[in-house]
Amino acid sequence: MSSGEPQTWHHGLIADYWAHFNDDFRPHEIPYFRRFIEDDGQPALDAGCGSGRLLIPYLRAGLDVDGCDVSADMVARCREKAEREGLSPTLFVKPMHDLDLPRRYRTIYVCGAFGLGSTREQDLQALHRFREHLEPGGRLLVDIEVPYADTDQWPLWTKEGRAGLPHAPEPPERGRLAPDGAEYGLRARYAAFDPLEQRMSWVMVARRWRDGALEAEETHRLDIGLYFKNELLLMLERTGFREVLVHGDHVDAPPTPDDDFVVFVATK
Ligand SMILES: C[S@@+](CC[C@H](N)C(=O)[O-])C[C@H]1O[C@@H](n2cnc3c(N)ncnc32)[C@H](O)[C@@H]1O
Repeated sequence: MSSGEPQTWHHGLIADYWAHFNDDFRPHEIPYFRRFIEDDGQPALDAGCGSGRLLIPYLRAGLDVDGCDVSADMVARCREKAEREGLSPTLFVKPMHDLDLPRRYRTIYVCGAFGLGSTREQDLQALHRFREHLEPGGRLLVDIEVPYADTDQWPLWTKEGRAGLPHAPEPPERGRLAPDGAEYGLRARYAAFDPLEQRMSWVMVARRWRDGALEAEETHRLDIGLYFKNELLLMLERTGFREVLVHGDHVDAPPTPDDDFVVFVATK
């Protein structure tokens, strides 16, 4: 992958899909981050805000939260959804490693977005940019899905498991009906996996149908940097955070080996 613009698939039809269908995804994450914002954590920044799954409920609750995302399409969907509710968020189109915003924050949270599309160098740079954008005593919250969470993915760490890569992209055969009257379908396939560099790539085919007829098809790629708990802990310490706690899957408790997600709570 290039070391330039992060390679994510959150554009076009995939951004539409997120905006239409992902509001109810992993609902326990929303009160988890919200507690930190309410606890002397305003203003807050949602880094990788996507179509506003967390940001919009927080704005609705009157919290002072800005958003940023590398995808102009995701930011546009977020703005449209917010404006439909009479909300007018401050949103920026920016990759997190290149963050350069006018405000400083008490909380920066990154939910489901760290390591997506970017290189390792960019991820480390992003941690520095987050620290720079925090007020003294401010908190950075970053979650990751641990690399061993997905049973289908784990064989790809072995030579034998990678033998069939890349898997051929396959279009989805059917979709879900959205409020705009169209049906949207997604199907993702593994494209590459490098266990030495802890990187993998997916390719997703997205389709939209209207009145049963195929109207649009797009193919997008997502590169992901995989991080283990202790590795990201070291990176946060190296970035200069004063104190770093690790929580389980969006709960206020230490992680267990059975947690699929962990959250880092780093204080400047
Ligand atoms: C899985 S979505 C999560 C969106 C939102 N945080 C949520 O939980 O609903 C990941 C988002 O991160 C954004 N993203 C990926 N890489 C990024 C980067 N390097 N800098 C900023 N945003 C990024 C994508 O465009 C996408 O909107």
